[in-house]
Amino acid sequence: MSRFVSSPLLVLGHGHQYPQTGEIMLRASITVFGAGYVGLVTATCLARSGHSVTLLDTNGLRIEALNAGHSPIHEPGIESLLADGVRAGNLRFVLGSPEAIDLGDFQFVAVGTPVTHGGAADLRQVRAVVDTILASGQTGNTVIMKSTVPPGTGAHFAAKLAPRGIGYVSNPEFLREGTAIADWDDADRIVLGGDSAAADKVAGLYDDSSSTIVRTSIATAELVKYASNAFLATKISFINEIAAVCDLVNADVVEVARAVGLDRRIGKAFLNAGIGYGGSCFPKDTQALSFLSSFNGYDFTLLKAVIEVNSRQRMLPVKALRDRLGDLTGHRVAVLGMAFKPDTDDTRESPGIDIAYMLLAAGASVAGYDPLGLAQVNDPQFSQCATISEAMAGTSAVIVATEWPQIVNADWHVLVSSMVEPRVVYDGRNALDGASIRKAGGCYVAVGRPAECSV
Ligand code: NAD
Ligand code: UGA
Repeated sequence: MSRFVSSPLLVLGHGHQYPQTGEIMLRASITVFGAGYVGLVTATCLARSGHSVTLLDTNGLRIEALNAGHSPIHEPGIESLLADGVRAGNLRFVLGSPEAIDLGDFQFVAVGTPVTHGGAADLRQVRAVVDTILASGQTGNTVIMKSTVPPGTGAHFAAKLAPRGIGYVSNPEFLREGTAIADWDDADRIVLGGDSAAADKVAGLYDDSSSTIVRTSIATAELVKYASNAFLATKISFINEIAAVCDLVNADVVEVARAVGLDRRIGKAFLNAGIGYGGSCFPKDTQALSFLSSFNGYDFTLLKAVIEVNSRQRMLPVKALRDRLGDLTGHRVAVLGMAFKPDTDDTRESPGIDIAYMLLAAGASVAGYDPLGLAQVNDPQFSQCATISEAMAGTSAVIVATEWPQIVNADWHVLVSSMVEPRVVYDGRNALDGASIRKAGGCYVAVGRPAECSV
């Protein structure tokens, strides 16, 4: 039985979307395991809907930051949602072992599922959470899996939980870092995999959402998540293959992508050619899906090619610099962008970091810059610069690895003047204006676009 209770809703200031005073809604008691990108957004958005949420993490630093009123990660809008949730009494943070707390009606699992060296999903964190829930001795509650887990995982968990009267629903998350709250608020779909009684209860938590709810089996819900990420990764690798052909025939991939994307059957999203996808999800989820397919006897040839193309992309800038500068020994090179994409501090599987290491291995000295992600790198091997100008002064080449607005909108005329010959500007995200860089005396090289260069 659900232990939802009715309670008047609270009005908060700052224009947040807390419902209006006087209305009555069902208020659930929820525990969210994992205070990362997904867990924080899940917890704060559910608290904003009026639910009573406990956010639990085993990382003391994360809980300490939260209790001090700060988000442990950078995500636009999260700090004010955290403050609102705490002020309304809807949100609290707990470190580590939850033995002493009531886990409530629902337990969202939002812990990490990295890949092993062999490419399988490492499920230790999710297993630990399910074991914790079982050990709590609670019954009648529902476990909701937000973490990305391979098809088959949930059925196993559901079978363990059912004899204890605990329901299980797969509810994969599709948010993107940097726009996570907007993505939660305007999700293209909410997928619920599980038996109808459990899924009905979970659907109630999304009552205030106008997103399409897709009801299905646990395994199908799990595969929807992998298929979505694999398809988006495929679009990126596809356009990167087209970029390679553009280089051969002197065409411009930005224009090709724009015109191709105008076909509504194709769509313009995820057709930006560049040094490839990074982050905590596309790389690991494509590998895990490929592993899962092989493990079950199917060779997913297309996905393997997507992964291979992606790892090739991040080698392109170093190859281009070698072609133009020769031996890189003694050259100072700047890498701009250590986060895997703009508006996040996440550096997991970031192309910029791989490129910095390749340059170091090739004998260059490397100066790195990132508006947020530099602290995570923490490697004395390359100098970490506080400004773009500091990073670029005296460099013979610069690689733009992440299209942060701070980088794209910098004064490139001044920056190029601070470089030394041959002033190669490698635009790994096709985000700069090549003609103006050439005008400033630079040699502009991009991915799948004709170079603007006289050297
Ligand atoms: P994250 O690494 O940012 O956070 C995971 C958190 O879980 C960490 O703070 C860690 O300390 C905590 N944790 C580990 N074991 C725990 C335990 N036993 N109890 C409580 N907390 C524990 O992870 P993330 O990026 O938020 O991703 C979480 C899951 O969501 C992954 O499966 C990921 O694939 C999926 N996902 C991520 C995104 C994204 O944009 N990051 C989007 C969609 C889905
Ligand atoms: C991605 C998906 O977009 C989310 O739907 C999903 O929930 C999430 O993974 C996940 O499962 O964790 P995210 O990794 O935050 O979200 O970032 P994206 O905006 O998708 O970008 C991923 C990478 O692809 C970045 O490195 C980006 O630079 C690269 N990319 C993206 C391109 O190279 N070209 C493009 O056209 C688009």
